[in-house]
Amino acid sequence: MTSRNRASALACLLLVSLCFQPQTALAADASNGKTLYTSSSIAGTACSNSSCHGSLPGTKNKIQRGANSASTILSAINSNTGGMGIFRNKLSSTQLDDIAAYIANPNLSATAAVSPTSLSFASTSVGSSSASQTVTLTNSGTVSLSVSSISISGSDFAIVSGGSCSAGSSVAIGASCTVLTKFQPTASGSRSGTLSLVTGAGTKSVALSGTGAAVSAPTAQISPGSLSFASTVGQASAAQTVTLSNTGTAALSLSSVAIGGTAASDYSIATGTSCSSSGSVAAGASCVVLLKFTPGATGTRSASLSITHNDSSHSPSTVTLTGTGTASAAGQLSVDASSLSFSAQAQNTSSSAKTVTVSNSGSAAAQFSSLSLSGTNAGDFAFTSPGGACTASTSLAVGASCTINVTFTPSVSSGTRTASVQIVSNAINTPVTISLSGTAGSASAPIPAFSPSTLDFGSVGVGSAAAARTITLSNSGTASLSISSLNVSPSDYSLSHNCGASLAAGSSCALQIGFTPSASGSIAGTLSLSSNASGSPLTAALSGSGVAGGATLSWSPDTLSFSSTVVGVRTATQSATLSNTGSSAASLTAIGLAGSNAGDFIIDSNGCTAGSSLAPGASCTVAMRFAPSAAGSRSAQLSLSLSSGTAAPLNLNGTGVASGSPLLTASPTSMTLSSLPNQPLQPQALVIANEGAALLTVSSYLIPPSLTLETGGSGGGDCAAAPYTLQPGASCTVMVTPATGGSIDAQLQIRSNSSGGTVTVMVSGTPNTNVGGGGALLLGRYDTPLHATLSLLLLSALLLARRLIPLASKKRTHS
Ligand code: HEM
Repeated sequence: MTSRNRASALACLLLVSLCFQPQTALAADASNGKTLYTSSSIAGTACSNSSCHGSLPGTKNKIQRGANSASTILSAINSNTGGMGIFRNKLSSTQLDDIAAYIANPNLSATAAVSPTSLSFASTSVGSSSASQTVTLTNSGTVSLSVSSISISGSDFAIVSGGSCSAGSSVAIGASCTVLTKFQPTASGSRSGTLSLVTGAGTKSVALSGTGAAVSAPTAQISPGSLSFASTVGQASAAQTVTLSNTGTAALSLSSVAIGGTAASDYSIATGTSCSSSGSVAAGASCVVLLKFTPGATGTRSASLSITHNDSSHSPSTVTLTGTGTASAAGQLSVDASSLSFSAQAQNTSSSAKTVTVSNSGSAAAQFSSLSLSGTNAGDFAFTSPGGACTASTSLAVGASCTINVTFTPSVSSGTRTASVQIVSNAINTPVTISLSGTAGSASAPIPAFSPSTLDFGSVGVGSAAAARTITLSNSGTASLSISSLNVSPSDYSLSHNCGASLAAGSSCALQIGFTPSASGSIAGTLSLSSNASGSPLTAALSGSGVAGGATLSWSPDTLSFSSTVVGVRTATQSATLSNTGSSAASLTAIGLAGSNAGDFIIDSNGCTAGSSLAPGASCTVAMRFAPSAAGSRSAQLSLSLSSGTAAPLNLNGTGVASGSPLLTASPTSMTLSSLPNQPLQPQALVIANEGAALLTVSSYLIPPSLTLETGGSGGGDCAAAPYTLQPGASCTVMVTPATGGSIDAQLQIRSNSSGGTVTVMVSGTPNTNVGGGGALLLGRYDTPLHATLSLLLLSALLLARRLIPLASKKRTHS
């Protein structure tokens, strides 16, 4: 008897009601029936005996009548049908039931059922789990039911622990087990799956279904991700804004809004902030945090803003805060011009002042420690100090200003001059520099000069007039010189000139200075020019001594000027005559060259020898040559020593030209135009030659309005139109031609690359209007062209001959 049957019998004894429950609940065991059917130990012979019913309960001997019918079997036993009586009283009713079941189910196939066959779950939020539901597997067959696996397809459903079915176990006949399942939707909408139970009675499936419900949640976004601040230590910056947005579908609940990090204390949350630690931001809404930076120290100051909230995938939302702290209150200088530019200013003249205003735009007073001029040409600039001017020790309050006034006084005649003003202070932007530039020399201004600038007449007999000597007044500036007065003093000196009231730029005129001492002894005098030039009055020192009854010696001319000459070449001679206009004889004790370039001049012949005596009214002559030993201006004096008194020296000068350089010579260097009676002044030839050793380029002429130049074959001039070149040794002719009918007193300048520089030719002339008496007509410049041309040719020939003789051996080519 099985335990199951024993329990059932016991239950019948204890509780009568249970005995009336259907026996189908305790199904016969076909497997046990099979054992009994094949066992011979019960009655010495088994049902399966081949002479009886066979190994399988087929159809032999009406065995099938016993299928599920223990009573039929019992009846056959008790009736000893076919000899079956051997089983009488040896088989219990249960064993008969089991045999009857086996006869009915000789293949021992299991039978299983699941319930329910489908499960529908209530709507569940995505990500959540439903309550579990139970599936029951029942073994409704006559053999034990094996369960080999329990599984669910799809991730939206799951098996929950607590069910009694388990893979690898079996379910007894008539028994059941349970599987617990739940719904855990991974997405919204309809979801389905299948629970599969693989059993000995085949796979039993349960359809699972449910609806996933969309879940609402907040989504936090913070912007910007970082902020940069800058401020002065101790001073709050302007506020900057951070925005926290909720782009989700549920309210965002904030739990803290805080600043952390190493320099957290430098940052503060400012008025206007709407994000708060216990606040909430509705779906689609935002809040802001305003931040200010108040650096506690200089340098980089870092911190971060952190907002924690219920969007777990983004919490905390953070913003990187970077600030730069700058030093506290300091002056800062600003200037209203970082550079000053001066327009053209003549050498050694001062411009009007230019002003720069220096202001303190900082947050503290600025203390100057120096105010200086520096740079290449610092000496050409200067400060002037009117009221309000900055000084080296100025202290500028916040917002205050002072001015720097600068003047420009070029020390050179041309070129760009630069320097700078530098202000050193305790301001944060020290030093402050203002660049200066100015152009020297091209200002339109006259520049007068006397040459020579001193004049010594030596000893002159009281009451005797020394020979007049020449001082040249030149205007090397770029504007006309207006002469307001030109005089000498004291009255022992005299002056005559034809300079007029003005002297054009680039022009010069000659002053004849006389000396007639009124008394014995040294008499100093002054030649003085008052004009519109800077530095007026211009003066020249005059000197001389009166000697009672003495000799008066003077040179005529008082200066020998040699033309530009190549170094090492000796010029032709020039002569000067020494005359005694005094009342007593002069005794010459020595005569010789003196001065810085005495060796460049040569006494070619000397009629004024040392030891000779020059009687009143007598004269002697010396002839000089110039042989420059170096390039540039060369000068010396021929000095006399007298037994009594002094004599003015003979001035010597010339220009040495480096060999290998072009050298322009003009001949003559001074021309006086003449005219036939009652006719205009006639043209005159000017020969331009290159006496140097390199190609000469004549670049231009400066022609006064009273003249024209005939060139290019016109009017007898064969020089090409400027610019043109002349080979070494070559020459050409221009015709200097009056442009007006009146007197001329002008100068012509020839500009070239000559090592001797610009050459000036003096041109003068007065028409002859007082000869002949009435017969001639004043017809014009070219009323007698043949006559004029012949005259010109004659003149030209003469001039050329005079000029060219020293050069006769040189090859002449004209480019
Ligand atoms: C416990 C084992 C056995 C069972 C369950 C069994 C069962 C049955 C049943 C249900 C019938 C039909 C009775 C009817 O017609 O009312 C039957 C008949 C018969 N049995 Fe058995 N039997 C068993 C053992 C045997 C043995 C061991 C023999 C041989 C010595 C045997 C020989 C026969 C014969 C010859 C008949 C047929 C009689 C006729 O033709 O009327 N049986 N048996």
